[in-house]
Amino acid sequence: MSAPSSDYDPVQVSALQPEEVARARDAALAAVAAATTLEELKAVRLAHAGDRSPLALANREIGALPPAAKADAGQRVGAARGAVRAALEQRHAELEAERDARVLVEETVDVTLPWDRRSRGARHPLTTIVERIADVFVSLGYEVAEGPEVEAEWFNFDALNIPPDHPARTMQDTFFVESADSGVVLRTHTSPVQARTMLAKRTPPIYVIAPGRTYRTDELDATHTPVFSQVEGLVVDEGITMAHLKGTLDHFGAAMFGEGIVTRLRPSYFPFTEPSAEVDLECFVCRGASVGDPDRPCRTCSSEGWIEWGGCGMVNPRVLVACGIDPHRYTGFAFGMGLERTLMFRHGVEDMRDMVEGDVRFTLPFGMEI
Ligand code: PHE
Repeated sequence: MSAPSSDYDPVQVSALQPEEVARARDAALAAVAAATTLEELKAVRLAHAGDRSPLALANREIGALPPAAKADAGQRVGAARGAVRAALEQRHAELEAERDARVLVEETVDVTLPWDRRSRGARHPLTTIVERIADVFVSLGYEVAEGPEVEAEWFNFDALNIPPDHPARTMQDTFFVESADSGVVLRTHTSPVQARTMLAKRTPPIYVIAPGRTYRTDELDATHTPVFSQVEGLVVDEGITMAHLKGTLDHFGAAMFGEGIVTRLRPSYFPFTEPSAEVDLECFVCRGASVGDPDRPCRTCSSEGWIEWGGCGMVNPRVLVACGIDPHRYTGFAFGMGLERTLMFRHGVEDMRDMVEGDVRFTLPFGMEI
């Protein structure tokens, strides 16, 4: 180990010599003055005021000086560093002001430019109609329920009293996700949400609607599509009767198609409702006036006066039991409508393919209603 140098002469530390310090300071000041952008200034700051800059390195040498020499060298280096810092700050303020002024000019918004030339697209009318229906029922106190599109066969069929030999379960109607015995299907209607809701909620009252996408193995043509949409309604409570169902459907019809439009029920069959009915809607265009009047044909109802809208009925007690609800205490009703059909006669859409193809020329006239 070497002994401390007794003849240490501060003048020999070249970095601390007055000319060296002045040179480093002047180089720094020149570089600051030459920086024309904030990025350049950042590089200058690093090179001339950073930890490894000549002045910072010189500053570090001071500690090793004998006390007498420290004050003098410290004052010299400190003054130089202070001058560089001040110059950096001043240049930074100047360049920032320059940049702000430039941004104000370059990024000016020309408010006189035409604003309505850019195409904005539109919402799909199916989305809009789902929201419209949800509004009608939410204002009656219903909740909106959801279920998966890839559904267990048990929810889609068994829970709904659709036995294994029912025609709806054959390969003709149902998309099976893997094989026909996988137990997993693409739901063929929104009715499985009935079973899911009852099982999840357990105790009535239950007032829900469930809009959503459904699948059946149909070819795509003007009146069929393998992917379509339905809205399901389900009420389970004490003392629910078919009169409540009829009143609800009439309210739904009037809210969607106009004041005074009513529905009609025709006896039908669904395994999950008993009794069951088809729901017809009074024609909201001719209101029945075209029936038997060849001079006033109606295209909307084909002069029938009524339009087929969906299915409905009182929830089959077997479904209530399958879902853990006491059928002696509770009764319920359910209904289901096709949304594409609803859209077709509500808006005179003639070809179902228009609703699946996603061509903006179809959606645009429906606009951005929200
Ligand atoms: N799920 C039936 C269908 O898809 C419609 C329906 C729903 C019928 C609810 C009765 C009750 O055809």
